[in-house]
Amino acid sequence: MTTLGAFIEELAGAFAAHAVDEPRLTAELLVAEIMQRPRLELIASPGACVPPADQERIHAASRRLCAHEPLQYVLGSANFLGHAIETDRRALIPRPETEQLVELVLACAPLWERPAPRVADVGTGSGCIIISLALARPHAACTAIDASAHALELAHKNAVRHGVHPRIAWTHSDLLADVPDASLDAIVANLPYIPSGACPALPRNVRDYEPMDALDGGPAGLDLVTRLAAQARTALVPGGYLFLEIGDEQGPAVRDLLENAGYRHINIKKDLAQRDRFALASTP
Ligand SMILES: C[S@@+](CC[C@H](N)C(=O)[O-])C[C@H]1O[C@@H](n2cnc3c(N)ncnc32)[C@H](O)[C@@H]1O
Repeated sequence: MTTLGAFIEELAGAFAAHAVDEPRLTAELLVAEIMQRPRLELIASPGACVPPADQERIHAASRRLCAHEPLQYVLGSANFLGHAIETDRRALIPRPETEQLVELVLACAPLWERPAPRVADVGTGSGCIIISLALARPHAACTAIDASAHALELAHKNAVRHGVHPRIAWTHSDLLADVPDASLDAIVANLPYIPSGACPALPRNVRDYEPMDALDGGPAGLDLVTRLAAQARTALVPGGYLFLEIGDEQGPAVRDLLENAGYRHINIKKDLAQRDRFALASTP
């Protein structure tokens, strides 16, 4: 009989040998997910047995992890603000910083005091942002936009899973190309912002598995953000809000480009690690 303690130990050893990040934690998370048991409960019962069927599934998943596929793709799910978001190679894995972006949007009281605020998520990917907003603000009229039809398919599937798909308009387009003037109260976007030259040096679990169209933001990383800022000035109503996730070295450049585009109340916000990660602005 293989005991849980020995099994996790063996997996953690294999992950360490393949330079998988946080080998012990990854082993525990994988076993907990596949056995459908809380991680702490597993740690507390090292003498329990691992059924052979679970062992097989865990070994299959561990081979993918040893090849540096991200855990969320292997498990097919990520937690985003307490919501289970299906994840696969069609879209970026939702990140914790993006949870903070959603929290900043939710904290914008004057936006949510409007009777039916129209909110668009540009570059929706897995749909994690717009689904969280639709769940938290049932009176919002939501739009999800992506240039990738594959990402939109995944986002739609996630919206169905959370029951908010009828409240979201789905748009396959280049940024705001299909959005009429003065038709939105708020735009939120986590667009690609990594400078092209930095992409080859990304960790291999990111570089080799996540879609490059979701990461590469052009020579300075600001191509999409710059275009969006210009388009959003007309797509937003006067007094509309723009919320952006940005790279940690892009705060001053994003402030400049938003000023040049004519925005007001520009606020570069920091993440929990005190790095510039978000830009907030409004239209005059
Ligand atoms: C960094 S990912 C963000 C995904 C998701 N919003 C999140 O926060 O996890 C950027 C997304 O922008 C999309 N994208 C890239 N260029 C685009 C464009 N020109 N117009 C619309 N979407 C675009 C990509 O397909 C990708 O899904």
